[in-house]
Amino acid sequence: MVALGDRTCPVLFRNGAVAELATRIAALGGVAHCVTDAHVDALHGAALRQALDVAGVRHAWSRVPPGEVHKTLATVAGLYDELLARGISRRDVVVAFGGGVVGDLAGFVAGTILRGVRWIAAPTTLLAQVDASVGGKTGVDHALGKNLIGVFHQPTLVFADAAWLATLPRREIRSGLAEVLKHGAIADAGHLERVVAEAPRLLAGDGEALRPVIAASVAIKARFVAADERDEGCRALLNFGHTFGHAIEAEAGGELTHGEAVALGMRIAARLSVDRGGLTVAELDRLDAALDACELAGDWRPWLRPAVLRRLAADKKAAGGVVNLILLRELGRAVIDPVPLVELTAAAEALARLGGDVRRRR
Ligand SMILES: NC(=O)c1ccc[n+]([C@@H]2O[C@H](COP(=O)([O-])OP(=O)(O)OC[C@H]3O[C@@H](n4cnc5c(N)ncnc54)[C@H](O)[C@@H]3O)[C@@H](O)[C@H]2O)c1
Ligand SMILES: [Zn+2]
Repeated sequence: MVALGDRTCPVLFRNGAVAELATRIAALGGVAHCVTDAHVDALHGAALRQALDVAGVRHAWSRVPPGEVHKTLATVAGLYDELLARGISRRDVVVAFGGGVVGDLAGFVAGTILRGVRWIAAPTTLLAQVDASVGGKTGVDHALGKNLIGVFHQPTLVFADAAWLATLPRREIRSGLAEVLKHGAIADAGHLERVVAEAPRLLAGDGEALRPVIAASVAIKARFVAADERDEGCRALLNFGHTFGHAIEAEAGGELTHGEAVALGMRIAARLSVDRGGLTVAELDRLDAALDACELAGDWRPWLRPAVLRRLAADKKAAGGVVNLILLRELGRAVIDPVPLVELTAAAEALARLGGDVRRRR
């Protein structure tokens, strides 16, 4: 549950319960406007359609092309056209059935069409189940940057069914596990250790193993969201690994997934935490080992090249030249460390040059 007063949002964790999702949609009444992408539709669309039929729900479907490049206002405009032509009413509900791209698109459409209708998030990737579907941020990319247009619009329900993840490519599972490990690193070292212990089953997409891990991860994210819904304070701790991660992801130009880039960003931020935050070398080793266990490759050094630092600087100059770097005081506790950009770049350059304790900087 994400506790937000009258916008409190239940999050349900299941493994093979599409019939229950249909029943819950039926209970809301109105037409279900399902938004999905071509991959998810081909793999799981028939089962949800059938379940909705059995539950007596009137449903209509819109399919967007898969991929981040389609998370745009143009796709949103197409969805407005379809839903309005179909006669969507304020009693209806939008169902976002897909990964984070579908969730951000459909949530944004739900938040803006007819000045806002209810929506259900039915996330089908690990990343969307543990991260994107929780917190009420919706929106699209702009030519000038990712996620620059959007609204906060909490879903009425998040229904995370681990069974959908059985068809997810291993690389997408890994990418989601990076965010799971991030939750452990900033808030609960025990969570991190449980993920390591279960890593082989998690990577294989085993729903029984995934379900409790997803629930624990969401509980952590929900705590930060409930404390700071509009991202003006402690919700920033969820950006651990993302300062460098975003710059690396952009520089990689599609070569790395978001999670892979964030994993490298976490390794870098953890090393800066040893220098500035009080993290011990033993804890750094535990984080490295956890990332290794989740097959999130470890060679961060080549990514601290000048081009990446220039990207980071260009990105952060807009924010006044001070970077709110997220550091670990210990494994399971994060803090915000506002660092002048010049100081951060110098620290990153020093890290890249090696020097000092080589083992620590492997
Ligand atoms: N709103 C938020 O708070 C928030 C937080 C984190 C990320 N995001 C956004 O989420 C997006 C990334 O989400 P994502 O990683 O889920 O990407 P995605 O939605 O592009 O999905 C990744 C790929 O997996 C496919 N897929 C989805 N479910 C599948 C399944 N069950 N089996 C097989 N294939 C499946 C998709 O078609 C796609 O090709 C980004 O746009 C990011 O900005 C939003
Ligand atoms: Zn992320």
